[in-house]
Amino acid sequence: MTSSTEVKSSKKPADTRGLAGQTVGDTQICQVSQTELIYRGYEIADLAEHATFEEVAHVLLVGHKPTADELKRFKDELVSMRAVDRGILEVIGKIARSEPSSDDAHPMGILRTGISLLSHVDPDCEDNSPEAQMRKSKRLLAQIPTIIGYGQMSCEGKTPVDPDPNLDLAANLLWCMTGEKPSELNAKVMDVSLILYAEHDFNASTFAARVIASTEADMHSAVCGAIGALKGPLHGGANEKAMAMLKDIDAYIAAGNGDVDSFMAEAFAEKRKLMGFGHRVYKNGDHRAGILRSWGLKIAEQNGPDAKKWFDIGDRVQQIMFEQKNIYPNVDFPCGMTYFVMGIPVPQYTPIFVASRITGWCAHIMEQHQDNRLIRPLANYTGPALTKWNEARS
Ligand code: CMC
Repeated sequence: MTSSTEVKSSKKPADTRGLAGQTVGDTQICQVSQTELIYRGYEIADLAEHATFEEVAHVLLVGHKPTADELKRFKDELVSMRAVDRGILEVIGKIARSEPSSDDAHPMGILRTGISLLSHVDPDCEDNSPEAQMRKSKRLLAQIPTIIGYGQMSCEGKTPVDPDPNLDLAANLLWCMTGEKPSELNAKVMDVSLILYAEHDFNASTFAARVIASTEADMHSAVCGAIGALKGPLHGGANEKAMAMLKDIDAYIAAGNGDVDSFMAEAFAEKRKLMGFGHRVYKNGDHRAGILRSWGLKIAEQNGPDAKKWFDIGDRVQQIMFEQKNIYPNVDFPCGMTYFVMGIPVPQYTPIFVASRITGWCAHIMEQHQDNRLIRPLANYTGPALTKWNEARS
């Protein structure tokens, strides 16, 4: 019985598993809220419309909007750092050639290995001073496209190309992956997607990087850990899975099994999770998703009905998810369709996310090191009661 002073709440207690709703530290780098995504004071839609990825990288890593001179120096420095040690590239090529060239291959594993190898040739590897950290951040930012491209070209049995010093980072990434100069529109859309993916406060991979950095480990170790976290389908891996689902729907329709609506009804009946939907923070929509969809759609419309159909299927999926579940797409949903109509192989979607998020990770690793205290929370023990070893039955 409830006494007169006890008031029973009908409200369900908040589910705080996975640190949901918990604020676990301060950052000056990024602000994520239900309504906004802000990189060091600049709103994401403003950046996507008016800035370039290199400018955003400067904002995140150096801390402010670059002057024209600063931007030129920053870009020149990045271009000068693009070449990767020959021995490392040979290992990358060998692993890439031995992987099956299907959607199940894992270039994220190749990239993680590549970053680990880079640590052995980086003269600053064990130096955690701010100057050395900045040099390492720039090298990683400059060299990741070279590794991704070398792996992709090797996997396709093509001769890898050297980075092109005349291309900005986004266009150079596409060039390294294909050996073809990208169209202006494809380069622009890649640049916008890199801006949108660059930073997102204490998401799983960045938090993993900060935990590793908090032990005073080196930047490459923290980045390898972050890549491991990003690879999972609940985080960065969702962009590949979102496209895989659209392909499943297309095959389902082509086989005469039904339409998008019946596919979705079956997915709901089986309580399947739809990749590229939902978000831990954004419960009313992810600001980045609409921006990327509109750029992807431009490419699809230019490429014709075979490309546009992916957006038609995607839009219907989105509508049904909203009407029946009140769940919105996150940035990974339009990313899947957008990279697909750009002709990018699906297993490279999450590595491209790395090519962008490396800026946010490195900024956070530097911020962690600037005012470090070991990240070591407590656990609530729920295991067996204390038992004497000699009295226990095995
Ligand atoms: N498909 C179907 N149902 C969903 C989905 C989804 N994608 N996302 C959430 N729900 C349901 C969930 O089952 C739960 O229902 P109920 O209350 O009946 O159990 C309800 O919505 C609340 O979801 P939640 O599990 O409390 O959400 P969370 O904050 O723990 O998880 C999430 C967030 C992103 C892990 C989850 O939405 C998800 O798994 N989405 C699919 C994977 C994905 O797209 N990840 C990318 C995340 S954002 C960008 C990035 O990091 O790359």
